[in-house]
Amino acid sequence: MPNGSALTTVVIFGASGDLTVRKLVPALYNQFVKGRLPKHLRVVGVSRSELSDDDFRAKMREGVAEFAPDLLSDPQWEEFAPHLKYVAADAGAHDGMGKLNAALDACDDDLENRLYYLSVAPALYTPIVKQLGEHGMADESTGWRRLVVEKPFGTDLRTARELDGNIHRVFEERQVYRIDHYLGKETAQNILFFRFANAIFEPIWNRNTINNVQITVAEKVDVEHRGAFYDKAGILRDMFQNHLLQLLTLVAMEPPNSLDADALRDEKVKILRAIHPILPEHTVRGQYANYTRAEGVADDSQTPTYAALQLYIDNWRWKGIPFYLRSGKALTRKQSEIIIEFNRPPVMMFKVSDESQFTPNLLSIRIQPDEGIHLTIQAKEPDSAQKRRPVDLTFHYRSEFNGGIPDSYERLLVDALNGDAALFIRSDEIEAAWSLMDPVLQAWENPNSGAPALEIYPRGSWGPDGADALLARSGRVWRIGDLHN
Ligand code: BG6
Repeated sequence: MPNGSALTTVVIFGASGDLTVRKLVPALYNQFVKGRLPKHLRVVGVSRSELSDDDFRAKMREGVAEFAPDLLSDPQWEEFAPHLKYVAADAGAHDGMGKLNAALDACDDDLENRLYYLSVAPALYTPIVKQLGEHGMADESTGWRRLVVEKPFGTDLRTARELDGNIHRVFEERQVYRIDHYLGKETAQNILFFRFANAIFEPIWNRNTINNVQITVAEKVDVEHRGAFYDKAGILRDMFQNHLLQLLTLVAMEPPNSLDADALRDEKVKILRAIHPILPEHTVRGQYANYTRAEGVADDSQTPTYAALQLYIDNWRWKGIPFYLRSGKALTRKQSEIIIEFNRPPVMMFKVSDESQFTPNLLSIRIQPDEGIHLTIQAKEPDSAQKRRPVDLTFHYRSEFNGGIPDSYERLLVDALNGDAALFIRSDEIEAAWSLMDPVLQAWENPNSGAPALEIYPRGSWGPDGADALLARSGRVWRIGDLHN
């Protein structure tokens, strides 16, 4: 195999798209500055627009200045910019890929490793992969070849399998890196550290002490300019099949034997497969007011922009414990958080005037913003005999560690270049996640399924009333936002 002196090429398909300018190039630039990328590097942007290398560099510099201004420094950009190249080509067509292949081969290196990044519309995934195959560009005789695939990975189980089939005709599974950017978030990774680098939490991390688990990914933004895409996708495909289920696996999985990619993913897939089929009556869907006025959205659209689900994991650790997942657009604020609600004390020695006001121990893992961990405990109020109130034990990333939190794409790109697939999604995980979502999507299409109807919720709220009612049935409440503002 090639050694460290090989040329490393990152080929970005979809170089004129938003993701490249907002995330990918700023992430590569920052990791380059930190010395974490191979020195012998080229980053080749590919799209159909006619641009010179210099035009491309100028556009990317503007992107870093706009989307990651703290990172930009002139001398460092001068060092990085020559590594950026551009090829104008329609990579989904035979000639276009031929042109790219010739441009990539025009280097003096015998050994070359290559990361192909699909940052294009999903309809182009298969044509591009097919062309990579036809031009022998997945061949590893002069160095490794890897393929990074953005979400959405299919729109249901059938299309996900079909896409996998097309990819596997050209690349082996070990070469495929399916991205879920939530796994690149420091706080998502910290769930593993919290659980498995400390010995005190695992013994209580189960049905004996935990009452319920809540995962909230709330967004303040609405569908913005993505109406046409979003109206076909909806919240389950956009957020649940991937981000929310991934967060759930990190919270619920058994300790893996190591952080090795397959050891970790074996445990994640076991959890996904142990989730009991979700009952239609355990779902809630909402749409924010005036969503149908967004560009690209049908006037009579029934697409949900909000969902809440109640689900159960049929294994020894979690049997009978409800997991509540919710996510929505145009909500009151951006806040992603996992709350572990513990049982109340079996006997209350201290007088409580209103039992419903009692706050049990809550462990809150804040994914964003204000990343950190809170543990709510009861404390005695001074100068009183029996009064107590909930207080927080807190850890905040920003005050504890100097320096900002890197963007999730930084970690994921470096991992893909280093061949570490632990934070990428394996094909069996994708299938297991779709197997859970498909029946809910089908129930929502069927008026007789028992699933509640779509509710319209006001912008800037916490979503439809049905979501509160879902928990109220068992005397529970959503815990987010009550203590941790
Ligand atoms: C993307 C979804 O995967 O995640 C978007 O397509 C959503 O609709 C975004 O806004 C949220 O990501 P983050 O990192 O801002 O929480």
